[in-house]
Amino acid sequence: MADLNKPVTGHERIETNNFLMIVLILVAVIFGGLVEIVPLFFQRSTTEASPGVKPYTALQLAGRDVYIREGCYNCHSQMIRPFRAETLRYGPYSKAGEFVYDHPFQWGSKRTGPDLHRVGGRYSDEWHRVHLNQPRDVVPESNMPAYPWLATATVDPASMAPKMKALRTVGVPYTDAEIAEAAEAVKGKTEMDAVIAYLQGMGRVSP
Ligand code: HEC
Repeated sequence: MADLNKPVTGHERIETNNFLMIVLILVAVIFGGLVEIVPLFFQRSTTEASPGVKPYTALQLAGRDVYIREGCYNCHSQMIRPFRAETLRYGPYSKAGEFVYDHPFQWGSKRTGPDLHRVGGRYSDEWHRVHLNQPRDVVPESNMPAYPWLATATVDPASMAPKMKALRTVGVPYTDAEIAEAAEAVKGKTEMDAVIAYLQGMGRVSP
């Protein structure tokens, strides 16, 4: 039992004062957070592209936008964690330098379907075409939705240059030539072509 006659001092003063306790906890959490997060903004391993990682081509970029629009990220993560069960199933774990050109990241943690970070090259383009059109044609037990409209909707060539310029302002090193050629590169391509180009490029470099 505390001696009720003794004056409240030192740590006991903090523990018995709600307001002081809340304020000091906040200070401790903010300080701890800053110490962990701020250095990451300045570390090479998190801010520089891993060897071999290049900005998305115009077609891949269009595909990435379709991926986001269709909400693929609601069921698929793009981050392989450094655990044995994960690396055995999906391949080498994901590293920060592989995502420096992703604005915004598609990491996620919701996995109704498998992680897609290293899906590039795992299947043929034709497999993806059939799968996206109707997943149950290749995986009978699949509960992934079908996306048949991707095969008929075409990519808007005029939309590419503004997107690439916007990405350049946040640090993606697109050259003027790449931006000028973007419209031609996606002309006549369907959204299906674009998503497949995006998927096939995913996680191909494992530094
Ligand atoms: C409702 C959840 C859901 C959504 C939304 C979804 N998927 Fe899937 N996806 C799955 C499930 C479950 C599987 C595993 C069964 C299969 O292969 O169909 C899967 C499998 C895949 C695979 C094969 C992965 C592998 O390693 O075998 C690819 C590629 C894929 N999805 C791409 C996409 C794309 C692209 C989109 C958006 C256009 C999308 N998914 C949207 C649930 C989803």
